[in-house]
Amino acid sequence: MINDRELEILINEVYENYGYDFSGYSMASFKRRVDRLYQLDGFTNFPAFLEKIIDDSDYFSRMVEEITVNITEMFRDPHFYNILRNEILPVLATKPFIRLWHAGCSTGEEVYSMAILLKEADLLHKSLLYATDISPMVLEVARKGVFPLRMMKQYSENYMASGGKKDFSHYYTANYGLAKFGEDLSSKMVFSQHNLVSDRSFNEFDLILCRNVLIYFDKDLQERALHLFDDSLSKLGYLALGSKETIKFTSMQKRYKQFEKEKIWRKTN
Ligand SMILES: C[S@@+](CC[C@H](N)C(=O)[O-])C[C@H]1O[C@@H](n2cnc3c(N)ncnc32)[C@H](O)[C@@H]1O
Repeated sequence: MINDRELEILINEVYENYGYDFSGYSMASFKRRVDRLYQLDGFTNFPAFLEKIIDDSDYFSRMVEEITVNITEMFRDPHFYNILRNEILPVLATKPFIRLWHAGCSTGEEVYSMAILLKEADLLHKSLLYATDISPMVLEVARKGVFPLRMMKQYSENYMASGGKKDFSHYYTANYGLAKFGEDLSSKMVFSQHNLVSDRSFNEFDLILCRNVLIYFDKDLQERALHLFDDSLSKLGYLALGSKETIKFTSMQKRYKQFEKEKIWRKTN
């Protein structure tokens, strides 16, 4: 186990050497994850662990993957997707072009779910889905659009609960235990690395989804990320967060109106 002083040294060294600033992450869970990696890889002293991280950039990528939580699923919280399908997409449909940003997209299941909704609403052809994450490894998986076939039963149930009417297998090709989603969906996606702590706004969006990411940040960092989203949202644009996240009690609250008790807010004039 590494102690608090060592954790502080690690955070500073990572920032100095790679420019990744983890100082605003919720420390208890961050420390748990660093400890887990330390033990998993059989380190017995902190200097050796630190040296490996600093000298070996591949190992640093592994560290980023291990300390960020990448759990995700398709049509996660089906009711949320039901609201998107029935309440939000009909409003976005009036626009000539729809830009969406999935911030912290992990391995892409959320982005493919969104593309399916857009396709069913006949909006995919005029949409662009930007999907970003801090971790290059999860983005590689997301780009391929290939997910374990064993998950499809659960995803199909989520899809139906979100109001989906088709046979879910219509969207993928099954092969050797894997489900490959169609290029008609992925052709509208742009994946790239983006760090919510240090990178800036890069476009203007009609809908930003940042679900189950802010939960790992402390209050200051959450506030910073919300400002970034505010700068990146068009007038009357929508912001969607995860079920345990909120903009309540932040400086953004008064400029946004919450939508139907779901974790969706609309920017007001
Ligand atoms: C739990 S996953 C959420 C995935 C998806 N949005 C969902 O709700 O199913 C959290 C993701 O946030 C990413 N993440 C963590 N810190 C980040 C940062 N500073 N900038 C961008 N992404 C970050 C992680 O790499 C991880 O893929």
